[in-house]
Amino acid sequence: MAFFNFRQRNDHSEICAVLDIGSSKVVCLIGRKEPDGGIRILGAGYHASAGLRAGVVVDMEVAENTIRHAVEKAERAAGLAISSVVVNVSTRSLRSRHIHLDAKISGGEVVNKDLQRVIDRAFVEFHEPEHAILHALPLNWSVDDENGVIDPRGMFGTRLGVDMHFVTAGVGVLRNLAHCIERCHLRMAGIVASPYAAGLGVLVEDELDLGVTLIDMGAGITTASVFRDQALVFVDSVGVGGQSVTSDIARGLTTQFEAAERIKTLYGSVLDSPDDDSQMVPCPPMGAQDTLHHEPLTLLTSIVSSRVEETLEILRDRLQAAGMDEFAGRRIVLTGGAAQMSGASQMAEYIFKKRIRVGRPHGLLDLPDSMAGPDFAVSTGLLKHSFYHKNEAVSGPPDLSGQRLRDRRYTGGGVLKSLKWLKENF
Ligand SMILES: Nc1ncnc2c1ncn2[C@@H]1O[C@H](COP(=O)(O)OP(=O)(O)OP(=O)(O)O)[C@@H](O)[C@H]1O
Ligand SMILES: [Mg+2]
Repeated sequence: MAFFNFRQRNDHSEICAVLDIGSSKVVCLIGRKEPDGGIRILGAGYHASAGLRAGVVVDMEVAENTIRHAVEKAERAAGLAISSVVVNVSTRSLRSRHIHLDAKISGGEVVNKDLQRVIDRAFVEFHEPEHAILHALPLNWSVDDENGVIDPRGMFGTRLGVDMHFVTAGVGVLRNLAHCIERCHLRMAGIVASPYAAGLGVLVEDELDLGVTLIDMGAGITTASVFRDQALVFVDSVGVGGQSVTSDIARGLTTQFEAAERIKTLYGSVLDSPDDDSQMVPCPPMGAQDTLHHEPLTLLTSIVSSRVEETLEILRDRLQAAGMDEFAGRRIVLTGGAAQMSGASQMAEYIFKKRIRVGRPHGLLDLPDSMAGPDFAVSTGLLKHSFYHKNEAVSGPPDLSGQRLRDRRYTGGGVLKSLKWLKENF
């Protein structure tokens, strides 16, 4: 490969780089927007994770090295150097909050200034200590008693209302993430909640319109998002994933973590099969004093299924409590590496009583075959978000300065950011 343009920087807005920082792997994708609007992958690289757990940096230096390796691979494949990245965040602190704001307006034609004022009041209203805003999405506008307005400008009324969806995450987690990216000499161009990105990566138009729940079953964390009418309406997360299943197997079958991971992918299933009674699973020894032993396949299946069942039940209960069960429609899409577990779809169907499919990335040119699985939903969705998703009242990285926390009120930043959003959208 020729490296003559290796020094080229990604300052050009038609090229974007993204990082999916996961508990089991870090993925870097460099993409370019084609003249016809499509996205072409110029370079892709991934590396096994270390120093990261459930979306949280637990060892700064080790995490930095992991990220550098993934970025270097992608840069080499693309033949260019990147200077900024959009990253995902999947943490237990991910939250959704909805705020309805109604304000008196002049009574004449609704103009940009009115939209800006209502959005800014929603920012002032929003207060969650120790949390930073990742996404602020106007879901629904109303003018006087008229609800479900897509674009209120040009309409006449005396009151303007908006339903805002704020997605937030703990400031501490985000600061560590930002610091880790800085140590890799990269500028953080934005942060996207993982289940939002996963949805953008794999969902189809009908699902986004009619309502769908996406569940990203990762290694360290399971996250969920609900979309309807083309908008993200809810996110949540549970701090368990495929690695918890592996740990349960290591403990239950008395074997090492690496051996348990292999056993899980080779023999693991969430569902019983009639032959399981007679089958035995070889379990490598724990240490020099131990010997190879065999355990019944039924034991493995019960270990795996109880953890997966418990995780999905927690999510189902949370979605129900948030009123998202019926609102989200009849379809569930599973992504993440753990969605490849045998029987995972059937288990999800049994628990949620909805139609299930496993989602795979689509709509990207030159995506390597090795990245066609559900575990690459987040990275591909990050690219789509970078290029297309501008319907947010905040753009760029979240405010991690802590000023908002000291002031107890969001001032200034909201005005500027929503102005930027208005400029980009109207
Ligand atoms: N065929 C398979 N059967 C069962 N589990 C699998 C299979 N393939 C991958 N996994 C599990 O999927 C998990 C990795 O998924 P993924 O790559 O989505 O995680 P991640 O993005 O690195 O982590 P996270 O999103 O939780 O931070 C691992 O726990 C792995 O054991
Ligand atoms: Mg992940």
